[in-house]
Amino acid sequence: MIQYDAERRTLTLHTRSTSYQMKIDATGVLLHTYYGEKLRKGDLSRLICPEDRGFSPNPDEVGLDRTWSLDTQPQEYSSSGVGDFRQPALEADLADGSHIVDLRYVGHTVADGKYALEGLPAFYDEGVAAQTLTVELRDKCSGLTVELLYGVLEEYDMITRAVRVRNDGAAPVQLTRVASACLDFFTGDWDFITLGGAYAREREPVRTTLTQGVHTVGSVRGSSSHQQNPFLVLCDRDATEDTGCCWAMALVYSGNFQATVEHTQFHETRMTMGIHPFHFCWRLEPGESFTAPEAAMVFSRQGLGHMSRMFHRAIRLNLCRGPWKDARRPILINNWEATLFDFDADKIYSIAQAASKVGVEMMVMDDGWFGQRNDDFGGLGDWNVNQEKLPGGLAPLAERIKGLGMKFGIWVEPEMVNENSDLYRAHPDWAFQAPGRPVTRGRYQLVLDLTRAEVRQYILDNLRTMLKSADISYVKWDMNRSLTDVWSAGLPAERQGEVYHRFVLGVYEILEALHQEFPQLLIEGCSGGGGRFDCGMLYYTPQIWCSDNTDAMDRLRIQYGTSYCYPCCTMGAHVSAVPNGLTHRSTPFHTRGVVAAAGTFGYELDLNELSPEELEEVAHQIAAFRNYWDVVMRGDYYRLTDPFRHECFCAWMHVSPDRTRAVVSVVQTQRHANPVRPLLRMKGLDPDKDYLVEGKVYGGDELMYAGLALPFLDECQAVQYQIKEV
Ligand code: GLA
Repeated sequence: MIQYDAERRTLTLHTRSTSYQMKIDATGVLLHTYYGEKLRKGDLSRLICPEDRGFSPNPDEVGLDRTWSLDTQPQEYSSSGVGDFRQPALEADLADGSHIVDLRYVGHTVADGKYALEGLPAFYDEGVAAQTLTVELRDKCSGLTVELLYGVLEEYDMITRAVRVRNDGAAPVQLTRVASACLDFFTGDWDFITLGGAYAREREPVRTTLTQGVHTVGSVRGSSSHQQNPFLVLCDRDATEDTGCCWAMALVYSGNFQATVEHTQFHETRMTMGIHPFHFCWRLEPGESFTAPEAAMVFSRQGLGHMSRMFHRAIRLNLCRGPWKDARRPILINNWEATLFDFDADKIYSIAQAASKVGVEMMVMDDGWFGQRNDDFGGLGDWNVNQEKLPGGLAPLAERIKGLGMKFGIWVEPEMVNENSDLYRAHPDWAFQAPGRPVTRGRYQLVLDLTRAEVRQYILDNLRTMLKSADISYVKWDMNRSLTDVWSAGLPAERQGEVYHRFVLGVYEILEALHQEFPQLLIEGCSGGGGRFDCGMLYYTPQIWCSDNTDAMDRLRIQYGTSYCYPCCTMGAHVSAVPNGLTHRSTPFHTRGVVAAAGTFGYELDLNELSPEELEEVAHQIAAFRNYWDVVMRGDYYRLTDPFRHECFCAWMHVSPDRTRAVVSVVQTQRHANPVRPLLRMKGLDPDKDYLVEGKVYGGDELMYAGLALPFLDECQAVQYQIKEV
């Protein structure tokens, strides 16, 4: 619900359990006065405490009042160059050479339903109550007009934000920073949590105590990246999984981003998130506008667990789209780790055949089926079938696989080109390369210039042809390098600062066209594993390959960190062979199954090479997954231990929304002699219900408050309990 109090000039947004307030100050500055637990009423600008602060300048309209300064006012969307020395939300180069932007309130509107953003991913309101608030601010002098958009998704305690900047002035303006959200707090004795990491070690939570200064993370790689994720949490210093206040923000965007927390001289806090200003410069001619991507915010007073569960529900039901978003995804087998580039139709068929016998439902043919792609030196860009490997094209193989009762899926990497390709030979200027400079290769490949319509058309035409040439149910969309040499032959010099963002818009445009034209197609995102795992991609691809690291023990950490924001149904997770190719570790088959079943579930090996006992285990894993998939996918997720702290075991559980069923998974991460008693206290059950666990009945209260005694497991062993109400 959105309330405007005309007398106090406050705008208050209410979700089910949170409130968010702004106030239009007498000067017209839009102040931010509250975000947190739900309030019934009140004007929280009373918390401002005016004070004459040295070196905090005062604007002309407050006259001799030295207590009013933009430097100390909590702002909704901070200006720059007129007295606020904290991180600005908006920066611009104006025609007169100045960089001053001073935003004042013009008006606002409230509408039912949630806004959508042209060409950009955003949460939507299907099936849930939602409202939109639009507040207009203007910098009188330059004519820059800012529309702040707020979407209120009550049921998820989520408030989304986006920003449109319009040039209503007479001269061109260059935008150099447009934050999607800016959030000021009066206090800040907090921790902040970011998701750091690296290739094969994605989304490791990093928790830091906030100290005075500007703390920032981001990506300038052209994608959201393995190294940082567009997700940030501020929380009480003693916040745990179950207690404490947490404010979280996720950017619905897949390119360069910056997330910043500033802890000020007065221990206030400002949090901003948006497109990274690195090499960003967007030219607005008079009348033109620019839309900054959406940021989604959740406040939880019940710790990090509740915060995650709010994101999980909203992402699954109101960000992911298409028929697969809430349906059981096919249990797939992918040939990459089994064959790399070395396969032909018969090899793929033989992997599929073995898999079909134990209940696998889809065969995915990975990299190497097109052009002259026998290694990663060549072929990218040539999306014609390699006839030596697949005589007769995709259709005969797809039909053979269909004959096994399986679906057929395929890998593509449409944003890239190898120099050794027909595409590059024909159109060398279609790859990013700055004039007069040598190229910079990543995995021997270059990045296609998706800012150009003809390049996007080429990609779309090829994907269409491929998808129509055979019965293809699934596409794995990969992106295997970071962007460099970002310069487009299709844009004039003064628009080169737009290339990074236009590239992302180009990716979105192609994915949107596919979504419209092939609504049944399941697309799995990927970028060398989880290098582009973000809310932007999830709008187009309801699942994303979580990591190239399929080692079950490492996956415990990767999936744990990923779960801070993203639901299990989005996490691509497969059982692979041992010893693991990246870690050289051997884990039991059962453990690999338990860990993969906390994601989309599938296999990444050649089942022909398994022992009869292992094949039996596969059949068992598949049957079990079919039985409880809905609890994993649609249930509430509880992190029971933190695999980064040296606990002996890692445990998590999924509880069905009606709390009648649960799946509890435990993996022994360390084993010591004469070990301590392995007790596990569960979460999320109904204390008044009785549950059946391994043939015995326990109260939900007992299981949660006293716990269950686990067996003494060896290192890397796992145990899983399926629990039912009796
Ligand atoms: C990336 C993906 C892998 C695989 C290879 C193919 O690394 O993450 O799963 O598809 O590309 O080249």
